[in-house]
Amino acid sequence: MERRPFVVRRKWETAEGICGLELVPEDGSPLGDIEPGAHVEFILERPGLPPLVRQYSLCNAPGERDAYVFGIKKEPSSRGGSLHLHSLNEGSRLVLGATRNHFPLAADAQSHLLLAGGIGITPMLSMMQALGAQGRRYELHYFVRGSEHVAFKDRLEAARQQGLVHIHAGLDPAQTRKVLQELLDQPAAGAHAYCCGPGVFMDTVEEITAAQWPAQQVHFERFQADTRLTAQPEQAFTVVLHKRGTQCQVEPGQSIVSALAHVGCEVDTSCEQGVCGTCLTRVLEGTPDHRDAYLSKAERQSNTQILPCVSRSLSPVLVLDL
Ligand code: FES
Repeated sequence: MERRPFVVRRKWETAEGICGLELVPEDGSPLGDIEPGAHVEFILERPGLPPLVRQYSLCNAPGERDAYVFGIKKEPSSRGGSLHLHSLNEGSRLVLGATRNHFPLAADAQSHLLLAGGIGITPMLSMMQALGAQGRRYELHYFVRGSEHVAFKDRLEAARQQGLVHIHAGLDPAQTRKVLQELLDQPAAGAHAYCCGPGVFMDTVEEITAAQWPAQQVHFERFQADTRLTAQPEQAFTVVLHKRGTQCQVEPGQSIVSALAHVGCEVDTSCEQGVCGTCLTRVLEGTPDHRDAYLSKAERQSNTQILPCVSRSLSPVLVLDL
C-alpha cells in the first residue's frame, strides 16, 4: 500500500462540527497533480489493531499545490476516523495513502450541475474552483441544515456573488426534494449532474434523475456503502477461484475476502467498506449481489466485476478470475 507521512500545517473550524486541515509532506517533497473530485486515503494507525483506512476529498483549487486541503466532519457515531482527525493539532503527523479519482468532471459536458449535501461540499469545492478557472458553465447548489454549517465560505463567496453558488439552508426533507426536483427537471443538452452528500440526499437525487437523465450524465460520490444494501439478509454461497482451480464456501456474516484468505488467496484491500475499489475483481460466471458504493449502475448491471470486501452473490455459485 502506498504510504507517505504528512504534517498538519493548519487546522481550523470551517463550520460547526467541520474542521479544515492543511497537510504538507513531512519531507518537503512536492505534491503531485490534483484532479478535481479526487480523494486521498488516510491511514489511521490504531495501537494493537489494523489501521483504519478512510477516504477524504481534496478541496484544493487548481494550482494550489503547497498543501492538501480537506474538510472533515466530526461523526460521533463513526468507528473513530473522524474523531481521530478532529483530535489532531497543528504539527501532528499522519500517514496518507493513494490519491484516487472516481468522481471526475466529464470532459465533454456543456454544463455542470453540482449538488452538495452537508459535508458532500468537499469534492464539489475542487470541482467548482476548477470549472471557474477554466471558464466552464456550472452551478453549485449546497444544502445545509443551517448557515452555521456552511463550510469553506471563503472559497464559495466570490462565485456566490456571481450567482453560481446557491446555498439552501434549513430546508426540511420535503422542501429539499422539491428544490432538487426543480433543479433536475428537463436536463439541458450536454448537462452533467454531480452529487455528494448524506445517503438520503443522494438517494433522492438518484430517484429523481433515474426518470429523466441518461445514467452516464449523472455522477455520484459515496463515502459509505448504502446501508440498505449492507443490511440485507445473507445466504451462504460458493466462490470458485478459476485460475487456482479451487473453491470455498462463504458463510453468512463472512466476507468473500475473508473466505478467500482461508484458502490462501489474499486479495488486496484498503477500506473494506466497498468504497475505494482496491479489491475490484473480475466475475466470470454467476450474479453478484452488489453492496458497494464504488461501481456505477452500468458496471453493476454488467455483472462482470465485484468488490468482494462487501458484496456477495445472488447465485449459488460465483466464479471469480482469481
Ligand atoms: Fe475498498 Fe474493497 S477494499 S472496496
